[in-house]
Amino acid sequence: MLTLPLTRERVLDRPIADCFRYLADFSTTEQWDPGVFEADKRTPGPARAGSTFALRLNVLGRSVPADYRLIERDEDRRLVLEGSGPGFTVVDTLDFEALGPARTRLRYQAVMRWDAVPARIAPLLRPWAERLGDQAMTGLTRALVEDGPEQLPARERLAQKLLLPGMVAFTRRGWRTQHSRGLSRRMDGRTVAITGVTAGLGLAAAKELARLGARLILIGRGADRLTAAMQAIRDFAGDAELLPCEAELSSLADTQRLAERLLAELPAIDVLINNAGALFAERGDTPEGHERTLAINLLSPALLCKRLEPMLAERRGRVVNVVSGGLYLQGLALDDLDYQRGDYDGSKAYARAKRGLLALTRLWAEDEPRIAWHAMHPGWAATPGVAKSLPGFDRRMQPFLRTPRQGADTMVWLASHPAVAAHGDDSSGFWFDRAQRPDALLPGTAVDTPTAMSLEAEVRLRGGW
Ligand SMILES: NC(=O)c1ccc[n+]([C@@H]2O[C@H](COP(=O)([O-])OP(=O)(O)OC[C@H]3O[C@@H](n4cnc5c(N)ncnc54)[C@H](OP(=O)(O)O)[C@@H]3O)[C@@H](O)[C@H]2O)c1
Repeated sequence: MLTLPLTRERVLDRPIADCFRYLADFSTTEQWDPGVFEADKRTPGPARAGSTFALRLNVLGRSVPADYRLIERDEDRRLVLEGSGPGFTVVDTLDFEALGPARTRLRYQAVMRWDAVPARIAPLLRPWAERLGDQAMTGLTRALVEDGPEQLPARERLAQKLLLPGMVAFTRRGWRTQHSRGLSRRMDGRTVAITGVTAGLGLAAAKELARLGARLILIGRGADRLTAAMQAIRDFAGDAELLPCEAELSSLADTQRLAERLLAELPAIDVLINNAGALFAERGDTPEGHERTLAINLLSPALLCKRLEPMLAERRGRVVNVVSGGLYLQGLALDDLDYQRGDYDGSKAYARAKRGLLALTRLWAEDEPRIAWHAMHPGWAATPGVAKSLPGFDRRMQPFLRTPRQGADTMVWLASHPAVAAHGDDSSGFWFDRAQRPDALLPGTAVDTPTAMSLEAEVRLRGGW
């Protein structure tokens, strides 16, 4: 039998409560430990002594399953976990010490045991284990401290200009190469209204936001599906303040009703995330007479932005509009917003509507600086929406697609990180993987300000705001 002990220590510029809460839910290892591909909390509710976690470890590039159990939780002092996988066991101990109001010393000890490995191999394995320990500590520092906007290396800046090579980053590989993947900025006391929470990226984002302590206004279709989403969020995050709101967002009347309800019932909203979206193979008009892709992806989110704007401005709030990397292939068709000319192409209609939402986000960032106006695209993630609207793409790309959590990362980061709040250097932008990205790459796809203003006038007319 081989036993390898490992000890590391780091001083982190974050309050002890932040560090402890973040690490107590061991499934965050996915965000900071390069030795972990995926991590899930198995026991519903908050992480407490007895909670179990299922991990996929990265062992020399191979995915190896491991089970962990939190066996001791001493608030703001100590966490102890036991883990086991094929042929090995490990005990991880994390000790926390406050060095000041925003400074914490973290001591990490791991004792690894391999039953079938002879002890004489120890000198060979020790450097590997030491390297893993260093990488984990570096990852943790990034997650808790160095988690600001990404600075893209020159190679990646060039790749994104070339569009196709840049699209490699849309896969899960792009998410893995982010400098920091930590989501640790607490949102206690803040209210986030988010659309499209019953599935996919919206549900994944809502879970993370609830884990960060945000109060959530959950906007979706179907009371049963909203109830199921609330249960999934509580299983993931523990106690969370959740307010379900039913709305059919392809209807502007329903979106208007939703906005009125939020304005009447809520004292404040800090963040609006327009996540709901859809791509249709066939053209269709809503009962109100708008092409439905336009209605759900542009008219409805624009209406929510404008109706909630005064409330958001009062709180120096944020808007996060979810668009798509597909917009790089399309400009605006201002004279044919409802796609009445030519053969209908669902992907084109979708990309044009998302292009319009990006253009309006940019315009409003100029008009209302009390709000941080952001647009982001999630890359390519495996969600029910992608499976339904792009089945061929979904099948072919399955091994490369991001998980919904990975796709939702930048959405949650934009909602929570102080660097992207109103009045900061990065108070508005078009983001992918926590880095500012160009709005347009192909000739003829950029939207200038007069065109964005004409679009705004048309969208306002239809939305009645
Ligand atoms: N997944 C990707 O790779 C990807 C890539 C680029 C951009 N995006 C964007 O990311 C966002 C989320 O996409 P997703 O992949 O998570 O999609 P999804 O799996 O289809 O989830 C979309 C969510 O929006 C809701 N929604 C759709 N139409 C609605 C309507 N008319 N009224 C109310 N709610 C409605 C859906 O509710 P129902 O279940 O009731 O339909 C669902 O909760 C979208 O804006 C999408 O365009 C995704």
